Amino acid sequence: MDDNKIDALHNLGKIILKDEVIFEKFVQELTINVTEMFRDPIFYKSLREKIVGRLATYPFIKIWIAGCASGEEVYSIAILLMEEDLLNRTVIYATDINQKVLQTAREGIYHMNEMQKYTQNYIKAGGKNSFSDYYMAKYGSVLLNKSLRQNIVFSVHNLAMDKSFNEFQLILCRNVLIYFNQALQNKAINLFYDSLCPFGFLALGNKESLLFSDKKKDFDEVDRHEKIYIKKN
Ligand SMILES: C[S@@+](CC[C@H](N)C(=O)[O-])C[C@H]1O[C@@H](n2cnc3c(N)ncnc32)[C@H](O)[C@@H]1O
Repeated sequence: MDDNKIDALHNLGKIILKDEVIFEKFVQELTINVTEMFRDPIFYKSLREKIVGRLATYPFIKIWIAGCASGEEVYSIAILLMEEDLLNRTVIYATDINQKVLQTAREGIYHMNEMQKYTQNYIKAGGKNSFSDYYMAKYGSVLLNKSLRQNIVFSVHNLAMDKSFNEFQLILCRNVLIYFNQALQNKAINLFYDSLCPFGFLALGNKESLLFSDKKKDFDEVDRHEKIYIKKN
């Protein structure tokens, strides 16, 4: 409000709805974009052990990563799929409400000083190679390999407003719903339900669950701790 000389809260609301630039800045201020590669490594281990084999039965795989922030989670999934020989027949749709972090995600350039932590995570997640095989280091930054980036589509999508845009075998939405109230969580879960194929997987991660969702009964649990569910037919 200071930056734009807005004197009262009710005026902020009006201006945000009219001015796209201020709206975008507001989204950037408001969203929390903390993320890391192979965050919660046990989650990736579970995906590898319990889900990948079932994904492999599809000739063509579509995955949606909702609330992907600056892309570290997306590239972690791409690495996992590459190691399981599935990346070349997968398209990953990675979306977020925040355009600025999506731009970072598209570039695939991260700070070198994060790599030690990410390497540890990768090992704990059951990574099969050397983590450094996946990037090129230069001037304190790393650029992720192009082969990881080629099957990823990054785009803006607002879980509160936008509709389903495809049918997926796997949807990941981790550390996003915690910022939503119950009604909005329920809306997002309904959107995921509508966007999954029969027997599609929904992965929410260990901080979230289907607790407040009226779709709870339409999913079976695959991993209780990592909150991975399968859509009933
Ligand atoms: C804490 S980050 C989680 C990143 C990643 N999924 C992870 O677990 O590391 C939460 C992300 O959700 C996004 N987000 C918040 N509200 C959203 C909405 N309504 N629609 C889509 N994305 C949203 C934020 O912009 C942010 O990048």
